[in-house]
Amino acid sequence: MKRRTFLITLAGGAVFAWWLKPGDQGAPYNPYFQALNRLLREQGPGRPVVLIDRQRLAANCERLIKALPTGRALRIVAKSLPSLPLIREVMALTGSHRVMVFHQPFINALAEAEPDCDLLLGKPMPVNAAALFYQEFYKESSQKPAGERFDPQRQLQWLIDTPERLNEYLRLAQGLHQRLRVNLEIDVGLHRGGLTDPAQLDELIAIIHAHPQHLELAGLMGYDAHVGKLPAIVESRQQSHRKAQAAYQGFIDHLYRRAPHYRDRPLTFNGAGSPTILLHGDETPLNELSAGSCLLKPSDFDLESLSAFQPAVFIAAPVLKHLTGLHLPGPLPVGQAWALWNPNRRETYFIYGGYWKATPVSPAGITANKLYGVSTNQMMYNGSPASALTTGDMIFFRPTQSESVLLQFGNLLVLDPTRHGDFRVHGAWPPLPQGAD
Ligand SMILES: Cc1ncc(COP(=O)(O)O)c(C=O)c1O
Repeated sequence: MKRRTFLITLAGGAVFAWWLKPGDQGAPYNPYFQALNRLLREQGPGRPVVLIDRQRLAANCERLIKALPTGRALRIVAKSLPSLPLIREVMALTGSHRVMVFHQPFINALAEAEPDCDLLLGKPMPVNAAALFYQEFYKESSQKPAGERFDPQRQLQWLIDTPERLNEYLRLAQGLHQRLRVNLEIDVGLHRGGLTDPAQLDELIAIIHAHPQHLELAGLMGYDAHVGKLPAIVESRQQSHRKAQAAYQGFIDHLYRRAPHYRDRPLTFNGAGSPTILLHGDETPLNELSAGSCLLKPSDFDLESLSAFQPAVFIAAPVLKHLTGLHLPGPLPVGQAWALWNPNRRETYFIYGGYWKATPVSPAGITANKLYGVSTNQMMYNGSPASALTTGDMIFFRPTQSESVLLQFGNLLVLDPTRHGDFRVHGAWPPLPQGAD
């Protein structure tokens, strides 16, 4: 290559690199996170902690209740609010005592602590888990007077997806000498299991009717999480919502045709979830709608339909070490060059913990360093000097989901705002148990 061509190429490359150079994304905490940081520096536990903003939670509950279709009930999704005091708070704020449960230890914990609640399973459980529920339930509830006990025969609906599972539950009921209420899972387009054709109801209904001492039909459950997930060019949100509703109605119509006496029974027709609940209007075939996540709004729920809901859960992780510059191991000054080119790599922070299902939210411009690697013990983050962050400050994250993340930190730190724009600690709410002690 001629010298002139070489110099022109070099100059062009430099201009292109300069054009690609990232802008400074950094900014200090806004007043909300500044107040949280102040509180946690003074009174925090000195380890990563999940924060619940009680005022925002209450506002989200109010929004959800106002948006429900006329005459329909809310069922609170326990897995997305996995703490007994948190579920209790949501029960009080929404006036609902209906809860959807997905994990045997949670079912026992709720039946024990909230004997008036009404429980519906959100997934079909292996029959061993159902058996374990009764074993633990009778051990614990025998100490309570009969009138104060949760009554599984009235207040609990197991979810059934196949005739095989129904027969397993029938044998369990026979062994327990009691009647089990069963709700049938139907597929309204999600294709995660359940009955795919209304005619499949016939076999299940026949088994239930043949064993009235041991089985009772409690309703249907059809979750529509697929709605809104398809590219609009394949199917619009409204189209897939209408199809899901029509599929649901098809199951109800078939049931009423085959067994008209169910028209006079208070069956549960459950469906929806945070992403779809606001799509359901008064025309919905459902008589109760489920939601949990939208009340805390982790970042996977940053959806157009939930734009009125506010994030009410954060992780706060203390910065253990603040280093100026970016120093990556090895003989080459890769870190220095990178920091020179990208102002958002000019400060280095090692935090307490890390690698959660969560993304940094404050101060602005903080990002993980994938080249350095991830760590659950001391994870590296970078930021720009404009973030004005130092050792002892917190990096705030938004969990992407609540159901597993809230179980990883011990007690949830629950905060109330004060009139002066600060926060005060309302309490510490333990997460639900994962298994027997
Ligand atoms: C059966 C069922 N219903 C409803 C929901 C909705 O829960 P959330 O509102 O927390 O998204 C879920 C979530 O997985 C579910 O599995």
